[in-house]
Amino acid sequence: MDKIFIIANWKSNMSLLEAQNWLEEFSNFSSEVRNFPDKKVIICPSFVFLSQIRNILTEKKIPVSLGSQDVSTFDKGAYTGEVNAMQIKEFCEYSLIGHSERRTNFEETEDRLSKKIEMARKYGLKTILCVRGTDDLKDNKSEIIAYEPVFAIGTGNPDTPENANLIAGQIKDQKKAEYVIYGGSINSGNVKNFTSAPNIDGVLVGGASLDPQEFFLIVKNA
Ligand code: PGA
Repeated sequence: MDKIFIIANWKSNMSLLEAQNWLEEFSNFSSEVRNFPDKKVIICPSFVFLSQIRNILTEKKIPVSLGSQDVSTFDKGAYTGEVNAMQIKEFCEYSLIGHSERRTNFEETEDRLSKKIEMARKYGLKTILCVRGTDDLKDNKSEIIAYEPVFAIGTGNPDTPENANLIAGQIKDQKKAEYVIYGGSINSGNVKNFTSAPNIDGVLVGGASLDPQEFFLIVKNA
């Protein structure tokens, strides 16, 4: 059976203490998470916490991988304020690219997204490209594509599993990604409706991932 990806996008939330508490609580579920070898659990915290979170995951043997929420379009060099793929790769296996909040608030054009994917690839990061619909697909390919309709993000109003499955199928038909996941108002009660759809390989979870118990239930129920 292929993997089911369960990816937490913490966005610009959490203090260091809150992140440490989250990990402490989630570590209570480590042995149960290990019993789901077909589920790949990834958390995407803010850049500033990656190093410490990496250490905690290793020390406490928590079966969770790390992803960044973004990556620079530039390689290392004179780009003040940027965090580049070479640096991210020291801590992460994955990188989110093109989340709709970044497309809307940070002028992420297709050209920039292509450069980000190129940079991530150069340093061996696996990419999770977020698209709001099939119009966002353009020329970009990615290991994983997350279909996230804007109306469903943070609203408590998810897409229907049927429509999400249809879009995921269209993305796969266009051979833009090996895996397609769904994101937008996922919780422990609705996750299975999505992960049981034939074209959907997992979920990207925002708000509900901030609570470690709820996130564990999402992993369990997926
Ligand atoms: P949500 O966010 O789960 O809070 O709807 C999903 C996302 O933005 O990735």
